[in-house]
Amino acid sequence: MKLKLENVSKVFGDKKAVDNVTTELTSGVYGFLGANGSGKTTLMRMLAAVSMPTSGVISLNGEDISDMGARYRDVLGYLPQHIGFYKSFSVEKFLQYIASLKGLEKREAKERIAELLEMVNLSESKKVKMGKLSGGMKQRVGIAQALLNDPKVLIVDEPTAGLDPKERIRFRNLLAEIASDRIVLLSTHIVSDIEYIAKEILIMKDGRLIQKDTPQNLMKHIASNVWSVDASDAEIPSYQASYKVGNITRRAEGIDLRIISEKKPAPQAVNVPVNLEDLYLYYFDEEVGA
Ligand SMILES: Nc1ncnc2c1ncn2[C@@H]1O[C@H](COP(=O)(O)OP(=O)(O)OP(=O)(O)O)[C@@H](O)[C@H]1O
Ligand SMILES: [Mg+2]
Repeated sequence: MKLKLENVSKVFGDKKAVDNVTTELTSGVYGFLGANGSGKTTLMRMLAAVSMPTSGVISLNGEDISDMGARYRDVLGYLPQHIGFYKSFSVEKFLQYIASLKGLEKREAKERIAELLEMVNLSESKKVKMGKLSGGMKQRVGIAQALLNDPKVLIVDEPTAGLDPKERIRFRNLLAEIASDRIVLLSTHIVSDIEYIAKEILIMKDGRLIQKDTPQNLMKHIASNVWSVDASDAEIPSYQASYKVGNITRRAEGIDLRIISEKKPAPQAVNVPVNLEDLYLYYFDEEVGA
């Protein structure tokens, strides 16, 4: 299974939302990181064949997905970032409706829906109207609908927004389980969502794909840029003014600042092991202090 993007761009007016992306995805989980507005959703919508590239080609196993039509939709599962729900449908009705749109047989759909409701822990809420669900529950219904047709290509756009930590772990494990023989692309702002399960991380900035590598390699790449610095309360503002400051840890002995910087930020600074949050800060400075 190979999903290939060649020079894919999407332009809205004079805005290049996706700028000349070339890459290849094979089976496994890909974590998709990028600041707000960096083009993740726009790219995912093209991968889900909901919108067409302005230029460039997306192909699955060598065939342009825009020529595949229904054959592509048959192997695709897509959870949009903002999903329009049918408030007066029950959870079960909604899934039956989506199953029929996806062309599943009634019997097959019934079994699959029961299985998925169990998987996303909603069996007991299947009669509840969609309009009455909490944010996290809606998200889980969204995940279930994306998996209805047992997709070989699964595109999920911020699927864990609104999930509580327990649901998030459950969802992460679910993806890890099913990813062995499929392509899963997952966008998120929460690095712990992908820390353990991503085979590779894609980093998008201003519409361009600026990195694609294993988490280990990406972290190795910035290993000399992550520092721990002992500081006093009074010194914090000046560090924040000059550096990207991550966690500020208060200990009995004093304050410890985590700083992302190419040059050593203070004589007492020491390099510390990198984590994915550092990676996020390194690439998305606008997030610092937010
Ligand atoms: N239909 C559209 N018309 C005009 N501009 C658009 C449209 N869709 C997206 N954009 C612009 O394209 C850029 C990329 O948006 P996109 O939604 O893909 O970003 P994102 O990475 O998904 O952001 P977020 O993390 O907030 O979801 C933004 O500047 C956005 O305003
Ligand atoms: Mg988005």
